[in-house]
Amino acid sequence: MVLSFRIHCLWSGGFFMVSSPNSSVSGFREQELSHYYMPWMEIASNLPLMIENHELRVRVDTMPLLSCHFLKGHREQYLAHLLLSCITMGYVWQEGEKHIPKVLPRNLALPFVEISRTLGLPPILVHSDLVLTNWKKKDPNGPLEIRNLDTIVSFPGGESLKGFVLVTLLVEKAAVPGIKALVKAINAILQSNEDVLLQALQQLRTSIDEMAKALRQMHDYVDPAIFYAVIRIFLSGWQDNPAIPDGLIYEGVSEEPLKYSGGSAAQSTVFHAFDELLGVCHSKESTTFLHRMREYMPPSHRAFLEEIHSAPSLKEFILSSRSCLLHEAYNQCVKALAELRSHHINIVAKYLLTGAAKAKDGGLDCLTGPPQALAEKGTGGTVVFSFLKSVRNTTLEGIID
Ligand code: HEM
Repeated sequence: MVLSFRIHCLWSGGFFMVSSPNSSVSGFREQELSHYYMPWMEIASNLPLMIENHELRVRVDTMPLLSCHFLKGHREQYLAHLLLSCITMGYVWQEGEKHIPKVLPRNLALPFVEISRTLGLPPILVHSDLVLTNWKKKDPNGPLEIRNLDTIVSFPGGESLKGFVLVTLLVEKAAVPGIKALVKAINAILQSNEDVLLQALQQLRTSIDEMAKALRQMHDYVDPAIFYAVIRIFLSGWQDNPAIPDGLIYEGVSEEPLKYSGGSAAQSTVFHAFDELLGVCHSKESTTFLHRMREYMPPSHRAFLEEIHSAPSLKEFILSSRSCLLHEAYNQCVKALAELRSHHINIVAKYLLTGAAKAKDGGLDCLTGPPQALAEKGTGGTVVFSFLKSVRNTTLEGIID
């Protein structure tokens, strides 16, 4: 019982607060930072234009050095991390892969590192910034649907950039019933209640199917050439990236350059959580990367994953049960997760391969030309297709005969 209680607390106190559409996080919309932080807000809200006009670096260089002490509560702190991380990505990648600065100036680096330490996040744009924090409702009383949603901060890329962020948010939203089902499943195992476990697994499978449905909306809202040539570079980091091999000096923080991976939905907690529950084991290399991505999640998400990992094994419970229905429900979840990953591979093929071909064909009015350094790699730094296929295949190996 202690365990089930703790999982519930972590869920409602961590993940839910950052990402749930039902939580008061939608209050971000009203929660601009106080007047003191106006210099950050003004720059962040004009990022696309300042980048396109090549004036962001000059604006940042003359920005006052502000303290994080006046941020009230975790919502303002997450919002500050979002603003500073987007300003940082814009600052580094303003000129594409040319003239990349070696140093992040202290008036940006110091508060960014300070707020990152407070939140337990790295000082770079992470999935929880770009997606979980970065949305608002146009009509506060309207539905949480894409036509009523907008981003708080944008990069160049117009409607495709917004589509990329908001479709990813809708995938996370579709996962919320699955996370609730996961907690229910663990509690059912603790109480050896097969009926409730069966129900929980059926709910989990439905939720994974809904995630796949939400993911398919990417085709409707994001243009592959714009994603490839314009958007992607702003998600790129300074680890495993040949364009910036030495990393970045955070002035006033460290004299040595620091290296961080770019933003990637591999930092989304929900896939890790479902893998943990279902007992999916990936290859050593994939696991090393995925576990490194956990360092880019909010600490409450990491703790949530550790709780699931240390809970009694679902797979062992299923194997020791005589219920064919339970076996089948478990296998359906594993298959649905593998199918979701296959859909994702198709999307990645379209947005990286077709996107690259279209961008090379030219005709796209992009800032600096398509980035070259990550042509074979993801923004998280992986060799994309062998990694994604390996993860999908090891998911399928979880099926019980
Ligand atoms: C245009 C859309 C997308 C592209 C081009 C894309 C690309 C990639 C790439 C290249 C990777 C490899 C890791 C890296 O180096 O970053 C990756 C991993 C991953 N992506 Fe995406 N992605 C897209 C959308 C999404 C969405 C909407 C989700 C769902 C929230 C998602 C979830 C994941 C997950 C969970 C991984 C880790 C591998 C796994 O667990 O299967 N991606 N993605």
